[in-house]
Amino acid sequence: MTTSTLPALPALRSRFKTLLWVGLGSTALFVFITSEVLLMTDYPMYHAYRLQVIADRLLLIPHTLAGIFALLIGPINFSSRIRQQHLQLHRVLGRIYVISVFIGAATGVALATGRPGFPGTSMQAAAWIVCTTAALITARNHQIAQHRQWMARSYAVTFTFVSSRVLNLWPRYWSHLGDTFAAVGVIAFTLASLLIVDIGLNWRELTTRRSD
Ligand code: HEM
Repeated sequence: MTTSTLPALPALRSRFKTLLWVGLGSTALFVFITSEVLLMTDYPMYHAYRLQVIADRLLLIPHTLAGIFALLIGPINFSSRIRQQHLQLHRVLGRIYVISVFIGAATGVALATGRPGFPGTSMQAAAWIVCTTAALITARNHQIAQHRQWMARSYAVTFTFVSSRVLNLWPRYWSHLGDTFAAVGVIAFTLASLLIVDIGLNWRELTTRRSD
């Protein structure tokens, strides 16, 4: 391909963004079916966990609602078009996202209290709150480039709900959840998600050498 036939950088970036959201959306749909729908329909492998979820329902209802808000608002607020054309909507949804993260994190920690997953969940919640608070502060300070970076990190933590459940149907993976693996696994997913986002944010600096 000659230089003139190469797609321009903004077009490439927009194609990458579309592909990324289609990939994340398909993964979320896969997890919704293989984890949440099967949990609701009492899939035998999930039976014991289903009983725990039912017992935890008072905390799980606000937790799940907050998590769903955070999960759905992310893609809307990352859209440059919506942000440019409806800034007020972006701000309102952004506030709902921040409140959702705080409720989701607090209820998540409360749900994990007294269980093996507590240390991992606490670290995950701390990362969620720190990244989201930094995104809020940078937005208020009109540091828009940094605001987008912190939002990308915050959403990476939001998305660990999906990524950590992709392998749920694999019996060996599922049978290890609930013990030490669950505690360490949550930390590993959070760390990996944050590192992947930061590699993405620094991709140009990592792949091109400065000429001076
Ligand atoms: C997109 C964000 C999130 C959504 C939609 C969400 C939703 C849910 C749902 C539906 C459950 C019960 C069913 C299942 O485990 O699959 C659950 C469980 C749980 N979530 Fe979340 N969650 C999110 C993020 C988080 C985060 C970031 C944390 C950590 C701070 C967390 C902590 C927990 C814990 C500890 C449980 C186990 C509850 C129990 O044992 O009964 N969640 N979540």
